[in-house]
Amino acid sequence: MSQLFSPVTVRGTTFPNRVVVSPLCMYSAVDGLPQPWHFAHLSTFARGKAGLVFTEATAVEAIGRITPKCLGIWTDEQAQALKPITAFIEEMGCIPGIQLAHAGRKASTSPPFEGAQPLAADHPERWDIVGPSGIPTADNFPVPHELTADEIKQLVTSFAAAARRSLDAGFKVIEIHGAHGYLLHSFLSPVSNQRTDQYGGDIQGRMLFPLEVSKAVRAEVGEDVPLFFRISAIDGIEGGWTMDDSVTLAKALGEAGIDVVDCSSGGVSGAPRFRVADDGKPLNKSSARQPGFQVPYAQRIRNETDLKTMAVGVIIDPEQAEQIASSGQADFVALGREIMHNPFWPLHAARTLGDDPEFNLWPKQYKWAVDRRAQIAPLNQ
Ligand SMILES: Cc1cc2nc3c(=O)[nH]c(=O)nc-3n(C[C@H](O)[C@H](O)[C@H](O)COP(=O)(O)O)c2cc1C
Repeated sequence: MSQLFSPVTVRGTTFPNRVVVSPLCMYSAVDGLPQPWHFAHLSTFARGKAGLVFTEATAVEAIGRITPKCLGIWTDEQAQALKPITAFIEEMGCIPGIQLAHAGRKASTSPPFEGAQPLAADHPERWDIVGPSGIPTADNFPVPHELTADEIKQLVTSFAAAARRSLDAGFKVIEIHGAHGYLLHSFLSPVSNQRTDQYGGDIQGRMLFPLEVSKAVRAEVGEDVPLFFRISAIDGIEGGWTMDDSVTLAKALGEAGIDVVDCSSGGVSGAPRFRVADDGKPLNKSSARQPGFQVPYAQRIRNETDLKTMAVGVIIDPEQAEQIASSGQADFVALGREIMHNPFWPLHAARTLGDDPEFNLWPKQYKWAVDRRAQIAPLNQ
């Protein structure tokens, strides 16, 4: 059996395989509540048998949404509405996961298919945004309110409460979103955090809020629940967060109760202007479109800490994914755009890797028919 399709256990949860649906914002919620689209979207990946299916970034408070159409879990009603989705994912033998998020100074924008711009001052749904310091994320963004220490403590509580509701909703895995320039990442990066209190200054100060959130979530969910933390391994801009910083953070996250570091990059201030590999060498401009361009980040953290890692970013081919898993670069392999393009990617990948010659992974409702189709037209992908 391939490594990609071998099970892996983290704390109290055994994942049937290492293929993960990366968090994917759909900008289709109403008042933070999931809609039929969310059920259709996430249940399709479960029918495709991804081992772990993450929700999109799900806000821990209303002003933590990226757009007015983002999913939320700041109320019990929102948590209850997610239950049919988690139940179906489990019914398919997959693990339901939720990404808990706060968009911070990148909140109150329009969805990408409407421009991804800050909502205008007279827009009926806009809200005031918050961040570590009064520094906008880009020239056309508003200046965020600088959170007070008391407001930060309140947000730690909001993350913990959202974690509790996530368990009530049936999620078995929680990922804390600490990447892409959103609130927790903006505290980590010296580009966006220029505070002079305990939540700023050197890396220890800048890590404090994300670590407090991680500890509070771990305390809330107990010892059995696997916790993932998504990082932007590098900012990719002059004077920004570096790969060495990420190793320091990962070690501290491990002590705070995190099990898996999910290695993405960029987002603190527009698009990364340059990228470096783990050996410090610059990658060329188009590297963000090259297969597996972020895998070295996951590999380095896996090598230099006791933690498990998840790789993400332009992972397309089954053989590429298997190589990442079997060579020990990462424990989980997450797909975003490719699995939207082909939601049954895991079923086809298992065939390609020789793990499912009898179509046994397929849902029974499809297996008997797909089996027969194969007799008519040999099917391998
Ligand atoms: C439509 C879309 C929505 C996304 N939403 C999120 C999100 O909610 N949270 C997050 O951490 N990343 C989000 N991402 C980033 C993906 O999770 C993933 O890291 C990225 O697309 C790279 O993987 P890929 O090359 O397989 O697409 C999103 C990406 C896309 C394309």
